[in-house]
Amino acid sequence: MSLANTKESYGWGAIALHWIAAFGVIAMFITGFQAGLAEQANDKAARGALMGLHISIGATLFVFFAARIALHYSQVQPAKPKQAPWLNTLSSVVQNLLLLGLLIQLISGPLAVWSGGRAINAFELFSLPSPFAERNNDIHEAAETAHLVGRVLIFFTLALHVLGALKHLMLDRDGAFQRMLWPAKLTK
Ligand code: HEM
Repeated sequence: MSLANTKESYGWGAIALHWIAAFGVIAMFITGFQAGLAEQANDKAARGALMGLHISIGATLFVFFAARIALHYSQVQPAKPKQAPWLNTLSSVVQNLLLLGLLIQLISGPLAVWSGGRAINAFELFSLPSPFAERNNDIHEAAETAHLVGRVLIFFTLALHVLGALKHLMLDRDGAFQRMLWPAKLTK
């Protein structure tokens, strides 16, 4: 079983972490945006419940998100598909910015909770106490701003990333999409 990447193929490690991170980010977007809508509707109970869910999922998947970033930069990456060089450059830029957005969220999210003087509570199963003795408004505001930047960055780069993947699946049909489903060699 090929756990690590090769120059021809992604390994099971990268494939598993890619899909865990993909569904995890979607869950974070849904719960985060719903919490934003609840706030606009002045529904404090729903806002609290949705933020609790958002923070619980984020804390539970934190290690997987972090491993996804670390593994991307610590392993060899398979060769880029055969297409115009500018498209391969664009795909690398988009991928790096997407992972940067994820890193920003992984730092700013927990910081936003802790700087509010609260512990991170995940599904009442485990709790990560705040390193701050009391609320720190400056850090809290900086963390919220960074969290906004991170989600805008992820939103646009994720859209481009998905469009690129669909282009390979439906137009190019070059096996590039399937490389993220199972370890295999390029078919073209
Ligand atoms: C992994 C990618 C993540 C995405 C895409 C994401 C997305 C979002 C979104 C869309 C909101 C908006 C809520 C609103 O409009 O009020 C939000 C808020 C928030 N998120 Fe995340 N989040 C992520 C990771 C995390 C993590 C790991 C934590 C903590 C464990 C966290 C904690 C928070 C907190 C405390 C807020 C409220 C403060 C704020 O509005 O900035 N987030 N997030």
